[in-house]
Amino acid sequence: MREWDPQAASAGEVQSLVETVNAALAADLPDDPPWQDVQVREYLAETMPGERRINWVAEDDRVAEGDSHIFAHVSILLLGDIGVLEVLVHPRLRRRGLGRELVAVAARRAYHEGFSSIGVEAIGDTPAIPFFESLGFGREYVETRSVLTLSKVDWSALDEMAGGISSGYRIEYYPGGPPEDMLEAYSLAKLEAQVEDGDLDLAPRSSDPQRLKDSLSTLHKRGLKPYIVLAVHEESGVVAGLTEVVVPAQHPDRADQYDTIVVRDHRGYGIDRAIKARMLFELRSAEPHLREVQTWNAQHNESMLKVNAELGFQPDRDWYEYCADVAKLVQRLEPGH
Ligand SMILES: CC(C)(COP(=O)(O)OP(=O)(O)OC[C@H]1O[C@@H](n2cnc3c(N)ncnc32)[C@H](O)[C@@H]1OP(=O)(O)O)[C@@H](O)C(=O)NCCC(=O)NCCS
Repeated sequence: MREWDPQAASAGEVQSLVETVNAALAADLPDDPPWQDVQVREYLAETMPGERRINWVAEDDRVAEGDSHIFAHVSILLLGDIGVLEVLVHPRLRRRGLGRELVAVAARRAYHEGFSSIGVEAIGDTPAIPFFESLGFGREYVETRSVLTLSKVDWSALDEMAGGISSGYRIEYYPGGPPEDMLEAYSLAKLEAQVEDGDLDLAPRSSDPQRLKDSLSTLHKRGLKPYIVLAVHEESGVVAGLTEVVVPAQHPDRADQYDTIVVRDHRGYGIDRAIKARMLFELRSAEPHLREVQTWNAQHNESMLKVNAELGFQPDRDWYEYCADVAKLVQRLEPGH
């Protein structure tokens, strides 16, 4: 096992990591699309300014000189005061203590860097749940993932939704991200939603214009292409609602829904339905390979779940955020404990 710099890795190493990711997906999430070996290095190496991601791999080095075959990977993203962990072991090599060893290495580093807690996302109905519970992680938050299949969308119903917004609002579409002169108004809408939200912030929102700019540039560098649809309140010029979808170069057939926000004063005017419906039309023409869109919602967010159901999203699995105290985790993972 060794610390690993994705930027300096050989093409063979990156390819073997993608194979391991795909073997894990086939075992744990057979309905999820496999990864392609596109911008994987950048996906793992690039972070927001001020954040760092440290990677380690377990490898079989009995291959050609200077190359290796990666069969397990762990990374920790150090952001603010929390370390966000991701860990992966090839299905063929599970239940031999490798996952535990990888988490121990990352946790020790977080401890030495002065971090007090570690968070991780674990997907319901996969081995990650008993694994993190066995390590003493506690469940903090749950969301339901839903998936929409574009070929099953009722486009004429969607057309009505897209046009069903009250007068006084204008819808705008920005592939690549909002333009410079909208950043201020855009961040204000994000800020309001952040205040309302109780999420553990494993992926903090970008609610000031500079952070938003950094966040968009980081997305592009990681191969994650953002699409934005927003509703502008014509009288005041404020951003009344926004929805963000990202198409990852690593799995361009399934896009990820990021934030959808309707600012409190502008709720009840059909904005949520209209911006999401418009987004699906835009994605259909901009991304001909796209087949699905996935989204995550808190179970208490009933109005958004209702709109998603109308659009054709089908609930898929629960996703959990787990958290552990770093010092306790390091102690628990000491050899012989
Ligand atoms: C979670 C994961 C990292 C565990 O790796 P691992 O090497 O098998 O874990 P370990 O052998 O260190 O297991 C440690 C403990 O976790 C618990 N555990 C792990 N897998 C378990 C399972 N399938 N069922 C029940 N308990 C499990 C056990 O208590 C185990 O100890 P034991 O084997 O002595 O009983 C691995 O299953 C994995 O990579 N999952 C995929 C992660 C992921 O994100 N998938 C998304 C698709 S990419």
